[in-house]
Amino acid sequence: MIGGMDAHLAQLFDFLRFPSVSTDPACRDDVSACGQWLYEKFVSMGLFAEVRGTPGHPVIFARSEPRPGLKTVLIYGHYDVQPADPLEQWTSDPFEPRLADGIITARGAADNKGQIMAHILGVEEAMAHTGGKLPVNVLFVVEGEEEIGSPNLEVFLREHAEDLHCDVIVISDTTMVAPGVPTLTYGLRGIGCIEVRVTGPSVDLHSGIYGGAVLNPIAALTAMLATLHDGEGRITVPGFCDAVEPLQDWERKAWAELPLDDTRLLEITGAPALVGEPGYTALERMWARPTIEINGIGGGYQGEGTKTVIPRSAFAKLTFRLVPRQSALEANRQVAEHLRRVAPAGVKVEIIEGHHGDPYMVNPHSGFGKAAQRALEKTFGKKTAVIREGGSIPIVQSFKEILGVDTLLLGLALPDCRAHSPNENFPVANFEAGIRLNQELLREIGAAALA
Ligand code: BES
Ligand code: MN
Repeated sequence: MIGGMDAHLAQLFDFLRFPSVSTDPACRDDVSACGQWLYEKFVSMGLFAEVRGTPGHPVIFARSEPRPGLKTVLIYGHYDVQPADPLEQWTSDPFEPRLADGIITARGAADNKGQIMAHILGVEEAMAHTGGKLPVNVLFVVEGEEEIGSPNLEVFLREHAEDLHCDVIVISDTTMVAPGVPTLTYGLRGIGCIEVRVTGPSVDLHSGIYGGAVLNPIAALTAMLATLHDGEGRITVPGFCDAVEPLQDWERKAWAELPLDDTRLLEITGAPALVGEPGYTALERMWARPTIEINGIGGGYQGEGTKTVIPRSAFAKLTFRLVPRQSALEANRQVAEHLRRVAPAGVKVEIIEGHHGDPYMVNPHSGFGKAAQRALEKTFGKKTAVIREGGSIPIVQSFKEILGVDTLLLGLALPDCRAHSPNENFPVANFEAGIRLNQELLREIGAAALA
């Protein structure tokens, strides 16, 4: 082992100290410094590496010296992170990693710096053991814009398709169902995003003087949002669910036996009850059913006490999660059209479309899928849980469409890793297992005669 676990952790901590928040313009230099750090790491390992500029944040590309006759594995990850807010809910500085009781706490610890670093260090170790001769050719694509919908990565894939020739893609940016339970994810939900802005009077008005005469934009907006679901949680946007494929019987059976049950979900979420569309378990709703979520809402007075005002505007930020056969562009259009249709007279509605990514699904029992399961089982000494997940990595479906290549999703984060939340964390044990998993996986892929 190169320097052992302490040296591995020291490197991960350096990586975590960059506040590489891709959505925040104030962090622009930190994002590029983080990318530069990664580039230098790849160079120090003896890989050929490049910082490839995009109109946004750079993509860090690296590859091993190509050896003919070997399979080529592309390892994808992201070095950008979500904003750390609300800061006051963190128990320590989000960008000063803390290690206590075997748990690393920092923004990005799980999503995705800890997971991509495990692959990088796995490759470094494998190279050290074999005098640089890996069992496969390795390409790394680590981007800085995943958390904002990878706006420039598709163009990057098209422009560099030649350099990105590979047999299979490997990503650790998903979860394990429980500690120590190896998990292969064969489906990810897609995502669509819109922001709705509702405008009424030209200025904020005295709500005593004018109340009753003009429509309140917050009332209009909340009434519109209330039409997205029925009283039991079914989506009611016309056409939205038409293309949704039913769950397979084997999926329902297998998921019911996972060590991630409602009790555990209640513990992790802290919610008083698990609620949603009737006829499905919580896991089924999370992994195989679409959703429409309100991620943010605003308008009117937010300060102390009361202020009697009819605000001039209100807004809501919505995202949808989509499952196989749904189209993200189509979903954006359907929800936008629905909201315009149900908007009451007396307000103007403006809809701004955000990014979108289609859902992904792959056969977990293909040759590569089986190799992944063998590597997982060797690493963790247990049978692999084969699951879908609710989160989105939109570029995975683009990899399929543009490069024609399938992705193996081997998550290392835990369901309670608090990705996107305060006190995001990643166990050292998962980091260490990830470093071993990478080496097992490259060996399995290199050894097997795979389709
Ligand atoms: N790593 C996550 C996605 C994820 C998490 C998939 C857990 C499966 C299980 C990724 O970094 C992420 O958060 N993606 C965003 C995508 C969006 C901003 C385009 C998401 O899912 O919200
Ligand atoms: Mn994320």
